Amino acid sequence: MLSGKNILIGITGGIAAYKICELIRMYKRANANVRVVCTPNALNFVTKLTLQNLSQNEVGIEEFNTDNYKPEHISYADEADIMVIAPATANTIGKIANGICDNLLTSVACAFKKPMIICPAMNCGMWDNTFVQNNISKLSENGVYILEPDEGFLACGYNGKGRLCDLEKIFKQTEEILNKEQKLFGKKIVITAGGTIEQIDTVRYISNYSSGKMGIALADAAYNMGADVILISTVNTQKPYGVISVKSAIDMQQAVENEFDNTDCIIMAAAVADFRATEIADYKMKKTDNTETITIELVKNPDILQSLCKKKKQVLVSSAGNETLSKAPVIVGFCAESENLINNAKDKISKKGCDYLIANDISRKDIGFSSDYNEVSILKKDGTIKHLERASKQEIAYKIFEEIYG
Ligand code: CTP
Repeated sequence: MLSGKNILIGITGGIAAYKICELIRMYKRANANVRVVCTPNALNFVTKLTLQNLSQNEVGIEEFNTDNYKPEHISYADEADIMVIAPATANTIGKIANGICDNLLTSVACAFKKPMIICPAMNCGMWDNTFVQNNISKLSENGVYILEPDEGFLACGYNGKGRLCDLEKIFKQTEEILNKEQKLFGKKIVITAGGTIEQIDTVRYISNYSSGKMGIALADAAYNMGADVILISTVNTQKPYGVISVKSAIDMQQAVENEFDNTDCIIMAAAVADFRATEIADYKMKKTDNTETITIELVKNPDILQSLCKKKKQVLVSSAGNETLSKAPVIVGFCAESENLINNAKDKISKKGCDYLIANDISRKDIGFSSDYNEVSILKKDGTIKHLERASKQEIAYKIFEEIYG
């Protein structure tokens, strides 16, 4: 699977650097081309000569190598299919997460536009540090694959989470990423994200706590897998694919319906408000001395998912029910529940009529709404259910596409 692939390994200054010699051998045995860039500190733990011999390539350390006419960091970034940074120290993680480029490795990482795996390894106290965790979240939210450290005995003498994860895991993740890269090539995928914003007057609105992270993770995954992606989002985000910004459920419905034709898959990951204000005041509503309570009348919003499923049914009827011949998209809904998850999800998939329903338990603090992690059950219209264990929203996103497209 890795034969002919160009793998760029970044090694930083941690004791686990010695383990990367074996990782290089594993990639080489799989017939991949391996290039290595090191931070100067990495060479305290492993020699340039060893890395050079194992990778059968020059090892990059100096940022300003005058022998080469090409800017070194750009050529490393251009040539590789994937970048694997292992071990990644807290220092390098912090620099990459904040766009700091003060050596060859961090400059390459900054210029790198293809998939990147970061494998942190450090003392357990450093791993638990809030700023380190914020940097990890930032990278993960921006599509970087994080292979979290394992727990165990650390070189510093502590017992805790901080050991470089298994080399086998890094190898498998590299294979998986490069294998799924183009799986969705030629498919158009539309994804909604975020909570809708239902205006009350010129300064107030009703909304919900949805962060949009799951929808954005799905859009990133689809893009990385080669799809033509449209993200319809209430959360502002800049992406290398199409992003349509919307606020209300009505705006969102319009935007999704505009994309319905010639779309292969629509995923309604947005938390659409069920109600909106019947009337929106075009001024700031004022209270008076006598105002103790106010009543805002709400009217039901359209159910976007249900109306998409109805439209799909009509398309299928007009193409004599032949799903493979018709251009009807696969329709995927989400189901946020705080109790009776599976039973409510079963009711919802049959009521809404979608092909898949991704059910998640929003009562749990360690997954769901604003968390970077999720744990979901995928219900299919044929009644089968697949459970995906807790993982980062990025990993869950890939697994959802694997479930839909095999
Ligand atoms: N949804 C939608 N339009 C709405 C409400 C929900 O398209 N007006 C979609 C959501 O994007 C999600 C699915 O329906 O894909 C289920 O949303 P959820 O909030 O779990 O369910 P509701 O239909 O709103 O039902 P309830 O709030 O009663 O659980």
